[in-house]
Amino acid sequence: MSETPLPTSPDVPAEAWSGVHRGPLRVGEWVRLIDQKGRKHNFELTAGKRFFSNKGHLDHDEMIGRDEGFTVTSSAGGEYLVFRPLLSEFVVSMPRGAAVVYPKDAAQIVALADIYPGARVVEAGAGSGALTCSLLRAVGPWGRVTSFELREEFAEVAKRNVDQFFNAPEGSSHPAWDLRLGDLKVGLLELEGQVDRIILDMLDPWNCIDVAAEKLVPGGIVCAYVATTTQLSRVVETLRVHGGFTEPQPWESLVRDWHVEGLAVRPGHKMIGHTAFLVTARRMAPGERPPRKTRRPAPGAYGRDYTGPRPSDLPPLPEPEGEGQDGVE
Ligand SMILES: C[S@@+](CC[C@H](N)C(=O)[O-])C[C@H]1O[C@@H](n2cnc3c(N)ncnc32)[C@H](O)[C@@H]1O
Repeated sequence: MSETPLPTSPDVPAEAWSGVHRGPLRVGEWVRLIDQKGRKHNFELTAGKRFFSNKGHLDHDEMIGRDEGFTVTSSAGGEYLVFRPLLSEFVVSMPRGAAVVYPKDAAQIVALADIYPGARVVEAGAGSGALTCSLLRAVGPWGRVTSFELREEFAEVAKRNVDQFFNAPEGSSHPAWDLRLGDLKVGLLELEGQVDRIILDMLDPWNCIDVAAEKLVPGGIVCAYVATTTQLSRVVETLRVHGGFTEPQPWESLVRDWHVEGLAVRPGHKMIGHTAFLVTARRMAPGERPPRKTRRPAPGAYGRDYTGPRPSDLPPLPEPEGEGQDGVE
């Protein structure tokens, strides 16, 4: 019989490393208060402490011991909704070193890079640790997330954030997490064994494709997260030229809020128009190549103006005949 506690236990089992508690709010936990204008305030519950706002104060003791999901009123009549922060809320409010992967993209990465319990995942860079939290959640305590980070000050921010999210006891971290200071291009080859997934959130992921190919298991996935179209083009073409990956899949996700009120049902006025592009490709088995494409590239796609990596099976460039010969149609 399994010794794993049943899902009915009053709290989430600590050995699940979920970063979540059930049951009454307790001292040392973080809460998120939302005021009547939608402003958010995050703080750690401390016995005897007060939270101050432009609407007076609230005693932490009023919240400690209650089940989350209630409204409290401050000394000057302000109303606040009280919940524990969700992962998607934590990562956008936590202290940042580098820019974070937004929750909409973290969700896409976990789903489309197929991060599963027990997976051996490598990411770079750790940055502020936002994506790390989602990866660790997905692999669970029996998986492994090795996070490389070039900059010590960012690695420290990532460590603080990830440890806070997973409620790591003093002096410990999530058991599946291995945070390494250094360049992924060097450190990856020093890792023991192979890995299942490699996530690249950095300026120049194309420079990591050769080492990623060496470390990935056949069928493994490399996923790059890049902010600009020039980066997108370079990483896709580098993956193609390498030859040991399937045709790269580039995409982006757009999320639009809706206003729904009686007959006034319309898209919201604001949206995050752009975060980054994602590219995934799967590692072929050693010595294997994907089938040759039967469709020819768009005319001019790899014309004289194109200066990036060139797939080897392209027809040679025609002799220049005049202006506009190589323009993309
Ligand atoms: C955009 S941030 C990553 C944010 C992170 N994914 C998050 O969600 O918080 C990019 C990070 O990559 C690091 N970096 C860039 N090139 C690297 C490399 N070759 N190896 C390791 N880290 C690298 C940078 O120092 C920076 O902290």
